[in-house]
Amino acid sequence: MSIKFGIIGHGFMGHTHEKMLTRLEGIQLTAIADIDPKQLEDVQSGIKRYTNPSELINDPDVQVVLIAANNNQHHKLVIEAARAGKDVLCEKPIAMSLADLDDMEKECQAHNVRFTVHHQRRFDPDFRTVKVVYDSGSLGNIYMVKTGLYGFNGNMHDWHIFKKEGGGMLYDWGVHLIDQMLWMIGGKLKTVYADVRNVINEEVDDYFKILLRFENGIMAEIELGTYYLADKEKWFERHWFMGGNKGSLSVDGFRPEGKICRTTRLLTNVGKERTISAAGPTRSFGPPPEGIIVTEDVAIAETKHEDYFKNYIASYHSKEDFLVKISETRRVLQVMNAARESAVTRQVISFE
Ligand SMILES: NC(=O)c1ccc[n+]([C@@H]2O[C@H](COP(=O)([O-])OP(=O)(O)OC[C@H]3O[C@@H](n4cnc5c(N)ncnc54)[C@H](O)[C@@H]3O)[C@@H](O)[C@H]2O)c1
Repeated sequence: MSIKFGIIGHGFMGHTHEKMLTRLEGIQLTAIADIDPKQLEDVQSGIKRYTNPSELINDPDVQVVLIAANNNQHHKLVIEAARAGKDVLCEKPIAMSLADLDDMEKECQAHNVRFTVHHQRRFDPDFRTVKVVYDSGSLGNIYMVKTGLYGFNGNMHDWHIFKKEGGGMLYDWGVHLIDQMLWMIGGKLKTVYADVRNVINEEVDDYFKILLRFENGIMAEIELGTYYLADKEKWFERHWFMGGNKGSLSVDGFRPEGKICRTTRLLTNVGKERTISAAGPTRSFGPPPEGIIVTEDVAIAETKHEDYFKNYIASYHSKEDFLVKISETRRVLQVMNAARESAVTRQVISFE
């Protein structure tokens, strides 16, 4: 039987959800609510429209409330839906603070409703391509993973530039990038060190670099900037780099291309050999001897965002845990808090 969904918030993400949920088998989208009636004008026919979200929450034709309203609305809407006995799927960031998340989780538990978060970027093909290589162990001992997202036009818009509305890039893309890294690497995270800046925005962050040191020895770097001005056709770029002692992986783009590079013989500890570069002899970098670097194609993951919902439907019916656990989203918020603290104090923050 189809799961009956109602969406609260019919802006950018509400429209994306409407398109997705109306074409997926196993879900029936019965209602959409937005406090701005203009936002409801293009709701597809056959779907109920509400300007009061409480009416959608109390509509018996809605089993799951999908909250796609502004970040500062998540707390009250999740709690209201939970109190009405509705299951909740909330957009990221789950909450604007750990205290808010505590309230939300408590209400969902008290009313025995199921609660998860839309971290669909766990199904991004670029990320999944990297994760498959990571999980395979084929690069040997991984010592570093680097993920980056760079925007070229320098603008942030609308409520994203206001602090009290949950603006800023940590709440926006940061939660996805942190979630991907924590989910892939697993294990304890020992320390967080970060730089978080307002390059051109008065209230909110628009650049960050976060360094995560895991107990297994991996140093992960997450970097995002909205203000890398460049006259490129694409308006942003996505990059991954992963280094192990048996090879390096690079994956670029949301529709990714990737390759693994290895050496046919070890390049370390070559006593008494020197490499001559264009600038003269070098004992560290410089061109490797001919033929020593070999490149392998990487199988690109074929995952799609709809896989998130397919997974949701299966877990909903089987009553098994959802892919995205609330404890994981709490850890993402904790990393974000540690990053902010590190940026202010310029100290390394101990984590787990
Ligand atoms: N998972 C993702 O990839 C992704 C991408 C973009 C946005 N988001 C998240 O989706 C949410 C919405 O972002 P957006 O970009 O669509 O914003 P948006 O401004 O385009 O849309 C938000 C809509 O919510 C409505 N709204 C605000 N408060 C409301 C309330 N109390 N009840 C009903 N409607 C209300 C607004 O009128 C607006 O139409 C945010 O939490 C954002 O972080 C997630």
